Amino acid sequence: MYPATIVENLPVEYTTLGRTGLRVSVMGLGGGGYSRLGMSRDKSEAESIKIITTAIEGGVNFIDTAEAYKTESLIGKGIRGVPRHQVVLSSKKTPGSGIEADDIVASVDQSLKNLGTDYIDVYHLHGVSPDNYHQIVAKTVPVLEALKKNGKIRFLGITERFEQDTSHKMLEMALNDNLFDVVMVGFNMINHSARNKIFKLTREKNVGVLDMFAVRNALSNRQRFQEVLSHLKKIGQIDDATPDSCLDFLIEEEGVGSITEAAYRFCKYEPGVDVVLSGTSNIEHLRHNLQALQLSPLGESALNRIHDIFGRVDSVSGS
Ligand SMILES: NC(=O)c1ccc[n+]([C@@H]2O[C@H](COP(=O)([O-])OP(=O)(O)OC[C@H]3O[C@@H](n4cnc5c(N)ncnc54)[C@H](OP(=O)(O)O)[C@@H]3O)[C@@H](O)[C@H]2O)c1
Repeated sequence: MYPATIVENLPVEYTTLGRTGLRVSVMGLGGGGYSRLGMSRDKSEAESIKIITTAIEGGVNFIDTAEAYKTESLIGKGIRGVPRHQVVLSSKKTPGSGIEADDIVASVDQSLKNLGTDYIDVYHLHGVSPDNYHQIVAKTVPVLEALKKNGKIRFLGITERFEQDTSHKMLEMALNDNLFDVVMVGFNMINHSARNKIFKLTREKNVGVLDMFAVRNALSNRQRFQEVLSHLKKIGQIDDATPDSCLDFLIEEEGVGSITEAAYRFCKYEPGVDVVLSGTSNIEHLRHNLQALQLSPLGESALNRIHDIFGRVDSVSGS
C-alpha cells in the first residue's frame, strides 16, 4: 500500500501533480542535464550525494532521474535513510525503435534496484520524438500498464526531445491520446510556446506538468545567451534591434538578484507548471535556486517586456 501523504515541514511550497494526486515540491531536483548532480563535472560521490541530501533538507521531495543519466544509484544512496513515502521518484526509459517488452521490464527492475526501492512513482518514456511516437506508444504502453498493475510503477509519464522538438509536436499527440498522467516539457523565458500548445491541454485533462530547461545554458551563460539571440534575429523570431542586454532590466530595474533567479521565478508562476526541475553540480547554486523558487512572481511589467521580446519564439530550447 502506498502512503497517502508526504511530510510538509519545510519552506519549499508543495502542489498536487495533476491527476496523480501526488503532493510534490514545486522545485524538483533534476538528476540529468549538463550537470548530472555533479557526475558530469568531476565532483566526488560525496559532493553529489550532498546535493541530494541538501535538497531534501530544504524541502524538495521530487527527484527526477533516468536510466540514461546513470544517476539512479547515486540518488538511491542520497535517499537512503529517508522514509520512502517522503520522496517522489521519477525515472525514465529511452525507447529505441526496436524496443521489446522484455527491455522495459528489465530496465524497470534495474532502476528499482539502483534506486533501492520497490516502486517508482512516475515512470516516463524518455525523449520521444514526433516521428516514432505512435510506434513507441503501441509497443510500450501495454507493458507499462502491466507494470503499473503489479505495483512497480505508479503513474505513466512521457518527456519530449525539446532540443529538436522545440514546438512540442510529440507532446501535442500524447496529450490528445491522453495515455499519460504526467508530461515533462521544455518551457523558459526564451521559448514560451508551451503556454498555448501544451498547458491548455494539460489543464483541461488534469495532467501533471514537470518543467525542464528553465535555465540550461542560455540563461546561465551570457555568451551563450548572445549566440541564441543572434540566431533568433537571423531567423526572424525576435526583433533585429533587440540588444544583447535585453534582460538586464530585470536586475537593473526590477530588483531581481540574477538572471537564473528570474528564470526559475518565471517558470514557477506560469499557470499550468507544477514542478520546476533544477539541475546542478554546485551546492551554492542549489541553495540559490531553492531561495529563488520561494520568491514572489516577477512583476507584470517585467512579464510583458519578456513577452514582447520572446513571445514569437518556438525554434530554440535555450541549450
Ligand atoms: N528529455 C528529457 O527527458 C530531459 C532533458 C533534459 C533535462 N531533463 C530533466 O530536467 C532536469 C532539469 O534540466 P537541467 O538540469 O538542464 O536544468 P536547468 O535548471 O534548466 O539548468 C541547469 C544548468 O544551469 C546551471 N545552473 C543551475 N543553477 C544555477 C545557478 N544558480 N547559477 C548558475 N548556473 C546554474 C547548472 O550548472 P551548475 O552545475 O554549474 O550549477 C546546469 O548546467 C534535468 O536534470 C533532468 O532531470 C529531462
